[in-house]
Amino acid sequence: MRFHAPTSADSRELAGRVAVVTGGASGMGLAVVHALIARGATVAVLDPAPSTVDGVRSFAVDVTDAAQVSRAFEELPERLDILVNAAGIAPPTPFEEITEAEWHRVLAVSVHGTFLCCQRALPAMRAGGWGRIVNFSSTAGKTISTAGGAHYTTAKHGVLGLTRHLAKAYGPDGITVNAVCPGLIDTPMARGLLPAAELERATASFPVPRVGQPWEVAELVAFLASDRAAYITGAAVDINGGDLIV
Ligand SMILES: NC(=O)c1ccc[n+]([C@@H]2O[C@H](COP(=O)([O-])OP(=O)(O)OC[C@H]3O[C@@H](n4cnc5c(N)ncnc54)[C@H](O)[C@@H]3O)[C@@H](O)[C@H]2O)c1
Repeated sequence: MRFHAPTSADSRELAGRVAVVTGGASGMGLAVVHALIARGATVAVLDPAPSTVDGVRSFAVDVTDAAQVSRAFEELPERLDILVNAAGIAPPTPFEEITEAEWHRVLAVSVHGTFLCCQRALPAMRAGGWGRIVNFSSTAGKTISTAGGAHYTTAKHGVLGLTRHLAKAYGPDGITVNAVCPGLIDTPMARGLLPAAELERATASFPVPRVGQPWEVAELVAFLASDRAAYITGAAVDINGGDLIV
């Protein structure tokens, strides 16, 4: 019996790995890009906004557009090890004011976009016999959203369903599929929904009484993307300062 991990948490543990991060131009996706690069991975970003990180291949892609997603994956090297689906939007529209178009858009970015990217990424992961998919759900995926609308809550529940289904289907191929469920994290999205003072007020009563930082979520994602997390799949990992304890 062994009592130590086959790989250690050394700083280059993702050396040689090729990663795609959707929504990687801002907030938590951007922090994930930095965390993966710091561990030695090669990273491509799929986001309508350009990545400003050195060495990153940036594709101007709307993840809801199948043709754009396919084109980007075709241009990537054949090898693909890690996919992080961080793209998301969270309009705060009250339920009775949500138009059909907005309903579809919110679900499209989080659920359809994650579906498209997973479908394009999985053949390369299967060919390599190793893969890590980390999808961004939210506390909203387990209960209801703090500031986003009913479409956002619905979308983040959907991300968990897709994550669990793929985890079961692809575990035998050496591919793990997990979700992270962040609480209130200090990103442009959160600041767009809640003014700074409200963000502070909302988090002051948490067991860890402050807003979360993007790098803290990125650390979790990088761990899930590593060899050290090989036995974790189908999980929906909370990271919320204790706001939701289940
Ligand atoms: N900030 C929070 O408190 C919080 C909490 C829980 C979950 N989340 C989720 O975490 C993820 C990252 O959020 P964030 O707070 O860093 O947001 P953010 O707005 O800072 O970054 C989101 C990124 O996604 C990109 N994006 C939006 N629509 C896209 C599309 N159609 N195709 C490709 N890229 C697209 C944006 O251009 C942006 O770069 C999202 O899925 C969000 O729903 C955020």
